[in-house]
Amino acid sequence: MQCRENHYFSSMEKNLRRQFSQQFGKEALLAAAPGRVNLIGEHTDYNEGFVLPGAVDKRIYTAVSRNDKNVLNLYANQYAQQLSFPLDDIQPVDGWPTYLLGMIFFLKKLVHLEGGLDVLIDGDVPVGAGMSSSAALCCGFGFALNELFDWGLTKMELAVVGQKTEHLFAGVQCGIMDQFAVLHGKAGHLMKLDCRSMAYEYIPFDFPDYKIVLVNTMVSHSLAGTEYNIRRQQCEEGVSIMQKHFPSGHSLRDFSQEQLMKYKNDIPDPVYRRCIFIINENDRLLEGCKFLTAGDLQKFGEFMFLTHEGLSRLYEVSCPESDFLVEKSRSMPGVVGARQMGGGFGGCIINIVKEDKVENFASQIADLYERRFDKRPEVYITRIEDGVKIL
Ligand code: GLA
Repeated sequence: MQCRENHYFSSMEKNLRRQFSQQFGKEALLAAAPGRVNLIGEHTDYNEGFVLPGAVDKRIYTAVSRNDKNVLNLYANQYAQQLSFPLDDIQPVDGWPTYLLGMIFFLKKLVHLEGGLDVLIDGDVPVGAGMSSSAALCCGFGFALNELFDWGLTKMELAVVGQKTEHLFAGVQCGIMDQFAVLHGKAGHLMKLDCRSMAYEYIPFDFPDYKIVLVNTMVSHSLAGTEYNIRRQQCEEGVSIMQKHFPSGHSLRDFSQEQLMKYKNDIPDPVYRRCIFIINENDRLLEGCKFLTAGDLQKFGEFMFLTHEGLSRLYEVSCPESDFLVEKSRSMPGVVGARQMGGGFGGCIINIVKEDKVENFASQIADLYERRFDKRPEVYITRIEDGVKIL
């Protein structure tokens, strides 16, 4: 497996280096930044709760070199698009270049960056699939620049720059999970991150007989930006109501389900359901980690189904396509858990499937989905890999 991975890296690396030197007439520094999965703990990061992501074997590659023109020249293979942006007055733009512009904008607040950059992007992290392609783009780029200019920024500092970029250059008030995971991933391990203290521990995902299988609904979450920000506001509204009764509470994590229920009448309906979901989800994560370390994947999988139910009915960030896939997955042989992953409104369903049933699962679920929705889902059988690297 490692051998195949190395081979993939080296052929991708060779192609990109060749293309970069043809396009820009010089050598490049190359970084590879992975997408991520999240086993449990959805929408908990911006509520100062816990998350449990892992970096995966799909990556965004960034080749970068300096130029002396104070211009950002970009080429992305995926879009076959050549673009240039002046760097003296950086503003958000439509589409993917905004992420790179945002990174430069916020990096310039921390370090000295003079002159321009030539950048070539390639990769296979599906966009809009809940696998953090934008965090991989931002953090891979930031990591590459940090190396190129020898700034000595920490991974945590780069993660925060990536998060600010999402907030101000893409308009999504996201938490820190994605950027953190892309930068800190470790092969064979999940990261249990406390999004309040930013303390984390690596938890082995050591189940050789099981695979993490992603089924992409191919529904791109266009609603996700606005709805995501609304969920965040609703959680904040819940906190401010609860603070009237418990002034020392700072986030939903500080309240129990019982406390919330006691003041149910003070809290408007959608807000109440959002808050209940977050409190339960955080508890599920803490309990779920105990199951994982005790080797009880079955119990952990049951929690994944519960998470999906909450995402669908309480947090209301699912969609008919995601609900369909989780429901079908539930009754298939070898499946221990399934749920929608990431920001919501489509994207990927994460399934844990017994290895000897994976092939059957992949073809059956794809057939059922295609019959129902008239489009074929992509299926990715993933491995938990290291975070960002310089090649
Ligand atoms: C998106 C955001 C993350 C997180 C998830 C939901 O991926 O970028 O910060 O909130 O949604 O868990």
